[in-house]
Amino acid sequence: MSVHKNDAKRVTTHVLQAMKSRGERIAMLTAYDYSMARILDEAGIDILLVGDSASNVMAGHETTLPITLNNMIYHASSVVRGVNRALVVVDLPFGNYQSNPMLALESTVRIMKESGAHAVKLEGGAEISKSIKKILTAGVPVMGHLGLTPQSIYKFGTYTVRAKEKEEAEKLIEDAKILEDLGCFAIVLEKVPAALTQKVAEKLTIPIIGIGAGQHADGQVLVTHDLLGITKDFQPRFLRRYLELFEVIKGSVGQYIDDVKSRDFPNETEQY
Ligand code: KIV
Repeated sequence: MSVHKNDAKRVTTHVLQAMKSRGERIAMLTAYDYSMARILDEAGIDILLVGDSASNVMAGHETTLPITLNNMIYHASSVVRGVNRALVVVDLPFGNYQSNPMLALESTVRIMKESGAHAVKLEGGAEISKSIKKILTAGVPVMGHLGLTPQSIYKFGTYTVRAKEKEEAEKLIEDAKILEDLGCFAIVLEKVPAALTQKVAEKLTIPIIGIGAGQHADGQVLVTHDLLGITKDFQPRFLRRYLELFEVIKGSVGQYIDDVKSRDFPNETEQY
């Protein structure tokens, strides 16, 4: 018996694996709320990431560190309600998996039960392998995240490109292999040289999803608010902005304010 209305059309981890095998690129974006999730899902996005970037984009924090598990569950359950097709992946927030595999599993179980999401994402390699293993034993798909891992921003000091030097690049390749061997279904590679992404994508059989990681990744992810130009002062080289929605919304709201002040709105046809 099926539990979903449109099971046949849903993107699963197996669908993503098949996409990599036939060389079809995977499109992934962030979503934090029902309305945006609905639009992105209807547009045909393959994966929606309920990213801890909600800490920056939705809550205005400087980093992703302050967001809580309850915040993530709220965002994730809103997104799940807007989705018919996409695979919904949720970031485990900072502090909920690094210290202890049982906490990682308990946090994951809460996300899966309370939001209805399909998978979780964790930042890091070998150092979090016990947490990843524990989550996988509960049957929850895990997406890895290597390269620039924003939860470690105070260790890195800046948001610049990672793994440009040989030693860090070799560690990243090792970590990627560890994540694949553990059973992760995909890995996000953030802000690393394109040549390194190519090596990882060729070496691994699971999909590599890049952000600022070049054209050789098996798929791409962007923060939706960056792509739409809602976030204003963020212009990294890797970002392609498809709209300048900040200005569009500001202009429309300015027009509304003028219409109210001038008594043009509402007019006779807009009242009862
Ligand atoms: O939180 C997030 O939005 C992310 C993406 C940048 C991959 O992790």
